[in-house]
Amino acid sequence: MSKYIINGKKPLRGSIKIHGAKNAVLPVLAASVVSGRESLIHNCPELSDVTESLEILRVLGCRVKMDSGTVTVDSGNLITNEVPGELMLKMRSSVIFLGALIARCKSGRVTLPGGCEIGPRPIDLHLKALRDMGIEIEDSGGIISCDARNMKSAHVHLEFPSVGATENVMLAATGARGITKITNAAKEPEIVDLQKYLNAAGFRVSGAGTDTVYIEGATAGKSAEHTIIPDRIEAATYASAILMTGGKAELCDVCPEHMQAFLSALKDCGAGIEIKNRNVLVEYKSRLKSVKHIRTQPYPGFPTDMQSVFMSLMTLSDGTSVITENIFKDRFRHVDGLVRMGADIVTDGNVAIIRGKKELFGASVSAGDLRGGAALTIAALAAEGKSTVDNLCYIDRGYERFEENLGLLGADIQRM
Ligand code: UD1
Repeated sequence: MSKYIINGKKPLRGSIKIHGAKNAVLPVLAASVVSGRESLIHNCPELSDVTESLEILRVLGCRVKMDSGTVTVDSGNLITNEVPGELMLKMRSSVIFLGALIARCKSGRVTLPGGCEIGPRPIDLHLKALRDMGIEIEDSGGIISCDARNMKSAHVHLEFPSVGATENVMLAATGARGITKITNAAKEPEIVDLQKYLNAAGFRVSGAGTDTVYIEGATAGKSAEHTIIPDRIEAATYASAILMTGGKAELCDVCPEHMQAFLSALKDCGAGIEIKNRNVLVEYKSRLKSVKHIRTQPYPGFPTDMQSVFMSLMTLSDGTSVITENIFKDRFRHVDGLVRMGADIVTDGNVAIIRGKKELFGASVSAGDLRGGAALTIAALAAEGKSTVDNLCYIDRGYERFEENLGLLGADIQRM
């Protein structure tokens, strides 16, 4: 199993191009099943989750090609409406294929999805919403079979603005006659990106980015070309790494407006943040101040996916920070590793109290999930001495050429 060997305390400098967003490309790849035509998707990051999604598309019968960040999917000839269990288990977002298959085949069969262990990740909201659209669902022994022959447009209200449930309903509804309305929809930028792709593919979707999304069903889609938005979580991770190591570097090709809660927290801590169109210059000016209280929330609140790297950053701040994780129940898996490096963190349920230290020290730590693994890596970059971070399979799910990019910024990091 591969691991990072990191010699810390090298300030990161230079510039880095941010890749396309993992959480945007995965639903768009699933959506490419719906149109029955060719989709040209640019700015696709090279990640293991993308490889798995392409494999699902191939199994479904799509012709798929990836070339220098552009994926071509021809979904003209589907051969099955079923995603095999072993592929479903590879990642959580495989569940979005259900909505796509429902729209295209009027049926679909998947097993419960896998993904990072960050707490219970039920799909009850997805299934309730699909049932509200008249889809018959049999859920036995973790196998979910959907019969959507009587599917109709509907008003679907989500009890919680789940990102995945919003995406699944958006996709399923493209195959339902009439206009489906989702209220209390998730407002994440990735939902807006999915709307943009669907409209390019000949469907009529509006309202994404607000809490009400409208989807007009259509009998067929058309060929589409789409460029994936930049990865705000990747950008936040590099920003935290730059600040933790006392560096100065530019993040290129980002959407700063997608990162407002995070950038505003950095500014409150005294980080130098300069926004120039699609670039953000991040500069360590002096020891960061702690934050009073960060609470993770659905967008536009502080994202749960940025919580772990922000916590790493706060371990070296001046003062005490409080972080409350409101979205996932088990998203403090990075805390043990940070404490091994000398951080002072106590947790009580979903609350973490971080007393900033002047230094962290190299240690052997293990990634427990994707973003937690990134948090440990950036802490190791800032720590005195040598660290190892293992379980890199998690990190590879969400960061393209992580060690290579960090190395270009001046980090001493190697994969063994
Ligand atoms: C997506 C993102 C993930 C991010 C999360 C929240 C992708 C591939 N993943 O995950 O990186 O951390 O949004 O911004 O885009 N819930 C239920 N029942 C359901 C669905 C969700 O109880 O049917 C709960 C979840 O357990 C969790 C919360 O709702 O506590 C948020 O989940 P959701 O917004 O659905 O996240 P994902 O789509 O899984």
